[in-house]
Amino acid sequence: MEAKRPSDSFTEMTELVLPQHTNAIGTAFGGVIMSWIDICSSIAAKRHCGHVSVTARIDELEFKAPIKVGDVVSLTARLNAAFTSSMEIGVRVEREHAQTGERVLCADARATFVNIGDDGKPSPVPPLLPETEEDKRLADEATERRRQRKAAKKSS
Ligand SMILES: CC(C)(COP(=O)(O)OP(=O)(O)OC[C@H]1O[C@@H](n2cnc3c(N)ncnc32)[C@H](O)[C@@H]1OP(=O)(O)O)[C@@H](O)C(=O)NCCC(=O)NCCS
Repeated sequence: MEAKRPSDSFTEMTELVLPQHTNAIGTAFGGVIMSWIDICSSIAAKRHCGHVSVTARIDELEFKAPIKVGDVVSLTARLNAAFTSSMEIGVRVEREHAQTGERVLCADARATFVNIGDDGKPSPVPPLLPETEEDKRLADEATERRRQRKAAKKSS
């Protein structure tokens, strides 16, 4: 399988926060943001493996700053690592300042997607080809997280 670069699957998605996306105090409802995170990362996963993949987990989802009705929100997803049939994807959610365009980080998370083959079972993904030192660091950190998760699962 031909290796792909993180830039091949990098995904950016823009949303406008409407009243139906908000809670009783006019800030974005967490479940809506989670849904956008899932969509954005699933597009990156599909761009990497060229196939449908499913969400296996979402880790360390943190809401760091409020998003309000009327805000323009930008989501970005990039592949941190590709393993055998799974991929770790880092997602950032930023709100844009209407006048200055300045972006504020409002949420981030890490998602793991598993590529599903035509037989409905986990199927191999293309290797990820890190291009920069940052790419390598993100891949190494994701590999260590996966190692720790597998070790914890084994000992439980
Ligand atoms: C994710 C899923 C396909 C894994 O199937 P499985 O039969 O357990 O597969 P395996 O144990 O062979 O694992 C396959 C890969 O998934 C990874 N994986 C499985 N469960 C995982 C989890 N909870 N977190 C992270 N990775 C996971 C494994 O580490 C493995 O990765 P690798 O091939 O890169 O080493 C299966 O659990 C599933 O279908 N879950 C429901 C997914 C879904 O419906 N998502 C939408 C929810 S809204």
